[in-house]
Amino acid sequence: MPLLHSRSEESSRSTSKPSPATARAPGKIILAGEHFVVLGAPAVAMAINLYSQVQVIPKQGSGVSVSADIPLRFLAGKSGSPIVPDPGELLRPLQLATEATLRHIGSNNHALQVSVECEIPVAAGLGSSASTNVAIISAVARSRGIELSKKKIFELAFVPENFLHGKPSGVDQATCIYGGMILFNRPSSVKTVRVEKEPVILVCDTGIHHATRTLVGSVVKKSQKEKKDFRNYLVMVREISDGVAEALRDGDDEELGNLMYQNHELLRKIGVSHPKLDHFVGVAKRAGALGAKLTGAGGGGCVIVLSPSKVARDRIARVLRREGGTPYKISMDTGGVESRPA
Ligand code: MEV
Repeated sequence: MPLLHSRSEESSRSTSKPSPATARAPGKIILAGEHFVVLGAPAVAMAINLYSQVQVIPKQGSGVSVSADIPLRFLAGKSGSPIVPDPGELLRPLQLATEATLRHIGSNNHALQVSVECEIPVAAGLGSSASTNVAIISAVARSRGIELSKKKIFELAFVPENFLHGKPSGVDQATCIYGGMILFNRPSSVKTVRVEKEPVILVCDTGIHHATRTLVGSVVKKSQKEKKDFRNYLVMVREISDGVAEALRDGDDEELGNLMYQNHELLRKIGVSHPKLDHFVGVAKRAGALGAKLTGAGGGGCVIVLSPSKVARDRIARVLRREGGTPYKISMDTGGVESRPA
């Protein structure tokens, strides 16, 4: 399996005049290992064809201005009522990503307009923050004539990701950066999984959203109290994630599906599921899914459903829509983050 993170670091001092640049990065789903990856287990994640786009334009004067067009219409609290986020709170991580990049490239001219357009539902477990952050980092460096290595984008993305999520594992940003399917063990061990055939996956949003930081914090606390149980869970999740990577390499959908159901059960046990997620997993199973599970932090957000065919996926999507879900027929993104002069 090719080990990513292997490129040597580019010369990163900015010498060129600022010029307009753009970048695009995919969102992500986690097929196995979320939450347990924070505690040291491996996770398998796939980049998906929902994107954030960033445009960086030099401006007169000084200072960085950040604006964002993100799908807040999808943002609802646990009870289903809409959340009205503080715009300052939403823009702060984007500002941090920009500033960290400018510091890294030694740029003394901070007069930039950074505009973000994101089609990834926010706080739904689909990597909207990681995607926007890595796109910003790439575009800001590119506007100074620098193509950052993927390893450096990964490191810089911890600045906004830590601010947002506390102590994230790094799996979200790694997936958005590299694209394709990855097996993430820890920041220094990120490998590509070469899939025999792309799994037919449906994402379905419950419309109920929760903060990753709170959920990750609650699992870390639980793991400290229930040490013995968690030691067992970690062994199980290691087997599930390694099994998922192998099933993907072999194109064994039956095995992949079974492992997804097992993983959902473990996530339910540690308290990060939600009745609606469990309901959708059950509905998908009865409608013919080979596997289904929550994806990402949980507490609401999305389920992912493995279907035996595209026809079956469309049928399951209709059933889930009738149950109040918002289905997305996604496919794998293979490019990861890409930037270019505008
Ligand atoms: C969130 O997409 C994945 C979590 O495992 C958090 C992390 O890995 O940082 C819940």
